[in-house]
Amino acid sequence: MSKMNLKKVDEIIKNYKNNDSWLVMILQDVQEKYNYLPVEAIKRVAEKLQIPLSRVFNVATFYSSLSLAERGKHVIKVCDGTACHLRGFTNLRDEITRKLGIKENETTEDKEFTLEVVACLGACALAPVMSIDNKCYGKINNEKVNETLDCYKRAAK
Ligand code: FES
Repeated sequence: MSKMNLKKVDEIIKNYKNNDSWLVMILQDVQEKYNYLPVEAIKRVAEKLQIPLSRVFNVATFYSSLSLAERGKHVIKVCDGTACHLRGFTNLRDEITRKLGIKENETTEDKEFTLEVVACLGACALAPVMSIDNKCYGKINNEKVNETLDCYKRAAK
């Protein structure tokens, strides 16, 4: 594996004046840059802030919005809350799996999409719901899933 360029991490830490009180914000910004928290970046944060690596890992694993697993450019979240479960979650998840060839917590080979299942996206009246990069898509059916994913695929070319 090639050595990761950690310049972006250094810049983020500098923006927070090397202050470890902002650790969560720093990790959120790092994740925004890389789409997940690479181990190399976590080590760099600990080193630069002069805090134990274990503390950074604890924070990185505590918040569900932070991910240590490599994720694709676009993160698809499919809601499996009660309303969505009753109104077609399984069908929706299976259609995405069929279309992209990935299951829950997997990333496509081209690193474009990651599929995640979440508890509730806060739009229950629109069930079933999915989001892509935090943009919400409600009352979604197989046709809409395919149209939406095709849009993202076309934009990637
Ligand atoms: S249950 Fe799916 S958005 Fe709330």
